[in-house]
Formats: sequence, C-alpha cells, structure tokens
Amino acid sequence: LKHFLTIDGLDRPLLTEILDRAEGFLGVSEQAVKKVPLCRGKIIANLFFENSTRTRTTFELAAKRLSADVLNLNIGTSSTSKGETLLDTLRNLEAMHVDMFVVRHNVSGAAHFFAQHAAPHISVINAGDGSHSHPTQAMLDMFTIRRHKGDFGQLTVAIVGDILHSRVARSQIHALRGLGTGEVRVIGPRTLIPAPVEDLDVRIFHDLREGVRDADVVIMLRLQRERMTGALLPSEREYFHLYGLTEAQLETAKPDAIVMHPGPINRGVEMDSQVADGPRSVILEQVSNGIAVRMAIMSMCIGSQNRRSQGEGDG
Ligand code: CP
Repeated sequence: LKHFLTIDGLDRPLLTEILDRAEGFLGVSEQAVKKVPLCRGKIIANLFFENSTRTRTTFELAAKRLSADVLNLNIGTSSTSKGETLLDTLRNLEAMHVDMFVVRHNVSGAAHFFAQHAAPHISVINAGDGSHSHPTQAMLDMFTIRRHKGDFGQLTVAIVGDILHSRVARSQIHALRGLGTGEVRVIGPRTLIPAPVEDLDVRIFHDLREGVRDADVVIMLRLQRERMTGALLPSEREYFHLYGLTEAQLETAKPDAIVMHPGPINRGVEMDSQVADGPRSVILEQVSNGIAVRMAIMSMCIGSQNRRSQGEGDG
C-alpha cells in the first residue's frame, strides 16, 4: 500500500487487512498503551485546504500514537494564500524531508495530483477530495459496522440523504460492495441521487420508511449545500419532513439497527437530536475508531516505504 487515495479497486483481502490491523491498534488509540514506534523518525504533513474537525485531529492523534513527527500546515496562514501553487507547496514540503502527505482539498483529484507529483518515496493519503472520495472515513465506518454487526454478507445497509455530493457515500458504497455486503441501499430525493450509482449495485429508494425497512445499519449524510449549484432542493424544513431521521421514521428498521453519521451533523435537518444522541447512535464511536483505522492505514503505507527502501518491493 504505497498511497491510499480511493477505495475503488481495492480487494476484499486488503480491506479486511486494514480492519484487522485497526483492531490491533484499538488499545493504543484508546491509550491503554501510549505509543508504538512504527513511524518513529518519519515526518507526516497534514495539508487541509478545506475545513475539518474530526479527520484532521484524528490523523494527528494517529500519527503521534505511531511516534511520527507531525506537521500541521495552517493553510489560512500559509503562502498558498499569497498565490503559491499546489506544486510549489509540495516541492517546499518535500525539501523538509516529509515522508507522507495527508491531503484534504475541495477539488476532486487533489490527492491524486499530490501522489502523481510527489517524490517516489513519499506516500499520500486522501483525507477527502471534493465530492469524489473520502476513503479513510469509509474504512472507519466499515470498522464500526464490523464491530457491531460482524459478517457483512448478512447485512442490509441503508445510506440516506445527499448521495450526489457525498464523497463519503461514494467511498462507503465501494467499501461495502468490496466487503461483500448483503444489500446496499441509497435513499434520497431524485435530485440528490446520481444516475451512475445504479452501476454500483445498490437499490434506490425515495421513501425513507421503505428504504430503512429491515435495515441493520442506517447511515445518514449531511445536506452538502456548499457543493450544490442550482440543484432543485426542498427547503431544510421540507427536507427534514421527508428525509430527516426521527424515532418514528426508524421504526421500520431492525430493532437492533445502528445509526451512523460521518459528521458534522446538521441537527433538525438530516436527523433529530433524539436519534443522534439516542441508544442506537454510534456516531461518537465512529470518531474514536477513526484513530485506530488511520493508524492502520498510515502504518501500512510507512511499512511499504520501509520495504521499498530495503529493496524488498511493495507489499
Ligand atoms: N467526517 C468528516 O470528514 O468530518 P470533518 O469534516 O470534521 O473532518
């Protein structure tokens, strides 16, 4: 695993290896064990060109638990605000001997651009690019599902909301399919479900109660207004009426269904606080699990770097 840019194309053994490895890191991420030395002497640069609370901080915590040195570039006060190009930013950080870039950008393909242009020994991890991909979020979601539900083959997973603009949904669908999930459903208004989603072997619903019927896992998505250009949208009130998850809407799901959300939540838009904070919600567990899963992915990339530098080829 040299880079981690997208879930698309990753096979089940690799996805499972990431989840298994993350399982082994839970003790470290929860601080029962303080640190492991797997990335000692490595420099990991967090480059967040777009806002983040959960992803940036859990990447930083994960890197520190792996004993790496962490650079957090504050884009607002960096020279990108003076017109420096992405490529020049990359070259300057390379000159500081960075070993890994963790990149978030509002342009789809930004992390791939870094991976194409970075020196061959450097790894790049995609922390979310435009509406394209958020692969580490999808993996922490898979980890959370597996811890609660076990075998993916038996599960019905419903993803609800703004599928069209969601990099999280796209990555989740690839991960769920890759792990052999029994049934994957997407639920939302016609204007927010892209046509190509049909190619991904999912069932499409436009009615929330029908879509979550007998589901084991219900994943809610944020209405991503910052990515909407002229889409015909209901008002937030109308949206909540039709697609907001309430205890009543959840009645048709399995009694032991879990409710997930990648965050940030817009309470009263995509879900009610009673559900977000209720007994079936695993939303904060998702955040905690992000540390172990990001440790797993970063350590696999650094392990691959070490093997390449020792002439053993990429594992
Ligand atoms: N889920 C997620 O990507 O959250 P942040 O935008 O806070 O990182």
